[in-house]
Amino acid sequence: MEFTIRKAAFSDAEAILEEGLELTKFLKIYDPQIYGFKENYAGIYRNLIRKIMRGKKSAAFVAVYEGKIIGHILLVEKRHFPIYQKDSEAFVEEMFVAKQFRNLGVGTKLLDAAKKWGKTRKLPFLGINVHTKNNKAFKLYRNLGFREHHFEMRMKL
Ligand SMILES: CC(C)(COP(=O)(O)OP(=O)(O)OC[C@H]1O[C@@H](n2cnc3c(N)ncnc32)[C@H](O)[C@@H]1OP(=O)(O)O)[C@@H](O)C(=O)NCCC(=O)NCCS
Repeated sequence: MEFTIRKAAFSDAEAILEEGLELTKFLKIYDPQIYGFKENYAGIYRNLIRKIMRGKKSAAFVAVYEGKIIGHILLVEKRHFPIYQKDSEAFVEEMFVAKQFRNLGVGTKLLDAAKKWGKTRKLPFLGINVHTKNNKAFKLYRNLGFREHHFEMRMKL
């Protein structure tokens, strides 16, 4: 299947938004408490996507097949405590591939674009969060060379 990966244009915001909402529905299964929508979620989400596209330290890429967006990735430069020599890393804020286009290499190519973006910016690492129950994504990331780095722990309040 011939698809292309390119930097997202402003006109892609609605398609990314639709995919983002699908992703949120997907994640809600794992974490119903967090992923419930606010009333004005679409507006907030749209603004976030545009901010990421415009930002000097962020980027959005889309996968396109026959003129239609079939996946996207949102990237940010994540700043750690500014006392360290390497105080930033490239970070995947969200990533999604439409169901009917999964297991065809689209996610791998989106992550390739993320790696290139991070390297161009001379960032030392590419990071990604994955839910402990999202085995499919975890397996893909591991196969591509991501390694567990730290565990975020939570308690119920
Ligand atoms: C996780 C996700 C982004 C992966 O996207 P994808 O396009 O399916 O990823 P790929 O096709 O590159 O890789 C998936 C598998 O297909 C395999 N694959 C890659 N290209 C292939 C091809 N041409 N033919 C057959 N299989 C292929 C990969 O090796 C990988 O195998 P693995 O599961 O054994 O590691 C996608 O499943 C998704 O959107 N899931 C729901 C949302 C989600 O979990 N997002 C991530 C949150 S952290």
